[in-house]
Amino acid sequence: LGAGPRPRDLEGRRVVVSAGGTREPLDPVRYLGNRSSGRQGAALAAAAAARGAHVTLVAASVDVPLPPVAEVVRVGTAAQLRDAVVAAAAGADAVVMAAAVADFAPRSRSTHKIKKSDDSDDAPVVELQRNPDVLAGLVRERAGALPVLVGFAAETGDDSGGVLEHGRRKLARKGCDLLVVNEVGETRGFGTETNSVVVLGADGSERGVAETSKDVVAEIILDSLVPMLARALA
Ligand code: CTP
Ligand code: CA
Repeated sequence: LGAGPRPRDLEGRRVVVSAGGTREPLDPVRYLGNRSSGRQGAALAAAAAARGAHVTLVAASVDVPLPPVAEVVRVGTAAQLRDAVVAAAAGADAVVMAAAVADFAPRSRSTHKIKKSDDSDDAPVVELQRNPDVLAGLVRERAGALPVLVGFAAETGDDSGGVLEHGRRKLARKGCDLLVVNEVGETRGFGTETNSVVVLGADGSERGVAETSKDVVAEIILDSLVPMLARALA
């Protein structure tokens, strides 16, 4: 894949991209977060805009400069991200869920800073509750073929299967059109400059992308997405 000019094949399309890691507050100064840098989502938003799309970027915690796109909505928690994505998804042609959305949030949020006590070694127990699954909600609410829905799967692999196996199962479970499977770990995927992914299609297609820049990965994801838009209109 060269660095030449990309096609303007998203001209007139509305694309929503979520990026970065959500943060779930414990108290006014602390939160539960994750290691997502938002780099892949930012690269996708930039690439879609360069290909002509009207892009709404829903940005959670993102460590890189946000690209110049039509609209940027900043969010903190998964619930805020859900509200922003659902609002932007109305009338959108595609929604790309690159954000690392927290699955759980503290059940309660202290209005004051949680203090340690001088006269005991007690530590607080943080009780968690499930967050809404934004992508699953979009799949459920979708009336026709639009918007095309793209999910990401951050997998480490475990005793019950490898990264790709988990990805295939997740695509079936989530019901989205494309799932970008991404191996993550302390030094892979999250927070790094490069990515190696497999793009799984609901049509059974699988496209492997060897370690390359997140910009190139973004273009390849859009290459898989664009034909699905045409099909959705047909
Ligand atoms: N996602 C979402 N809402 C959540 C959690 C995840 O919309 N509350 C989206 C992510 O943005 C991603 C996809 O779902 O596009 C898959 O996220 P991932 O964390 O890999 O999968 P989960 O379904 O949360 O399953 P698990 O973390 O248990 O593997
Ligand atoms: Ca998750």
